[in-house]
Amino acid sequence: MYDLAIIGGGPGGYVAAERAGAAGLSTVLFERRELGGVCLNEGCIPTKTLLYSAKVYNYAVTGDHYGVSTTGAAVNYPQIVDRKEKVVKKLVGGIKAAMKGYKVEVVKAEATIKSRGAEGITIEADGKEFTAKNLLICTGSEAAVPPFPGLKEAGDAIVTNREILSLREQPKELVVIGGGVIGMEFAAFYSTLGTKVTVVEMLPKILGPLDNEISTMLQGIYAKRGINFCLNCKVTGIEGNTVVYEDPEGKVCRVSGDKILVSVGRRANIKGFGLENIGVEMALNPAGRPYGIKVDEHMRTNIPGVYAAGDVTGFSMLAHTASREGEVAINNILGKKDVMRYNAIPGVVYTNPEVAGVGLTEEEAKKKGIDYKVIKLPMAYSGRFVAENEGGEGICKLIVGAKYHEVLGAHMLGNPCSEIIQSMCIAIEQEMTVEQIKEVVFPHPTVSEIIKETAFSLK
Ligand code: NAI
Repeated sequence: MYDLAIIGGGPGGYVAAERAGAAGLSTVLFERRELGGVCLNEGCIPTKTLLYSAKVYNYAVTGDHYGVSTTGAAVNYPQIVDRKEKVVKKLVGGIKAAMKGYKVEVVKAEATIKSRGAEGITIEADGKEFTAKNLLICTGSEAAVPPFPGLKEAGDAIVTNREILSLREQPKELVVIGGGVIGMEFAAFYSTLGTKVTVVEMLPKILGPLDNEISTMLQGIYAKRGINFCLNCKVTGIEGNTVVYEDPEGKVCRVSGDKILVSVGRRANIKGFGLENIGVEMALNPAGRPYGIKVDEHMRTNIPGVYAAGDVTGFSMLAHTASREGEVAINNILGKKDVMRYNAIPGVVYTNPEVAGVGLTEEEAKKKGIDYKVIKLPMAYSGRFVAENEGGEGICKLIVGAKYHEVLGAHMLGNPCSEIIQSMCIAIEQEMTVEQIKEVVFPHPTVSEIIKETAFSLK
């Protein structure tokens, strides 16, 4: 009998396993593929490795902006893909070692929940039965691929985030269906390497929930670099290597590519592993369809001793959300009070320039009827940004309460905002005001000083 069984070894499951192991819980972790889940094997890490190669290439070809000429800068695509695989392998190895270190038993097999009784929860995997007092479900999500007419016939031309990572040949032309985070990161990567990219997006803007001003700026930057954006365009079908869509006037249009990336969202993995055998309740969308496992703020499901964390809950599908949710579940199993908060979850888009945001956007504050103020400055107010981003555009925007000036949201465009957004997560978590931020000493010269400059711009 284990104290805890975890199904799924992604950033929800493996981080929870580490915390559980460190706290002395006897833990068994089931993973059918590789440890690290989507994040490590087909998401965050491989895409950031590819995007870094694109950045290095971009440095080489724009070196003359900084007085450094390069000749013969060239992309070796198979080498870029090989390096990505090497990075993934190294990090997966790191998780394996961590599991050993924390005495977590890892079972590389598909797990099925069988029953729950006085003797605990029984799980079957690899032809054996395992019983545990508690169960944490972290089965993640997979790409949602709508049944576009002609999709099946298109065969290999259609790729999701998983297949596109293993291409051994750089596509000459790529069509991206869905200009969300996945779509934009791949569009940015391939267009930097010289692929002709078209993004077909149903909404009037890319990167849906992101601050409007910032997503418009980013779109402008990539449009100048050659990405063709078809906004307000709904895909209606696939004809071989061609995507058929309706433009805003209802005209039927076509665009072709040697590959077509479908990145229209992800779907929680809630089927096929026995949730129904113990009666785990689902969260339903307004149409009454299940979109994830229903959890409370302690990550508890409706079944005592059964918890869920990460994408399987069907919202905030981010690796860092999953890890924190896993920690909350473990703390509750250990009898410590811990609740999940979603008001300060950062989001980053690793384009070049990067986009980072946390908390409310202006649009959300307006919708919620909050009395707010917006303070914003171009990134060029930071000396370090000017030094390192020749001709670079960027913005820092803070959303603050109109009366007390507490930070409600922070949104940035410009490198390396992925690394400095975290200070604003702390500010929101700790309910800091602009006046308090003004008193903090920021290292000089750093791009992070833009936050302090922006704070001082509050009138
Ligand atoms: P998404 O929800 O971010 O974007 C999907 C886009 O597809 C939306 O803009 C939607 O309007 C559009 N769309 C849907 N149907 C369409 C159609 N028929 N024709 C044209 N456009 C259509 O989903 P995405 O990009 O697949 O990402 C999935 C999840 O993975 C997200 O929850 C995201 O947060 C997470 N993720 C996070 C990353 C990061 O933090 N850097 C990187 C990659 C993924």
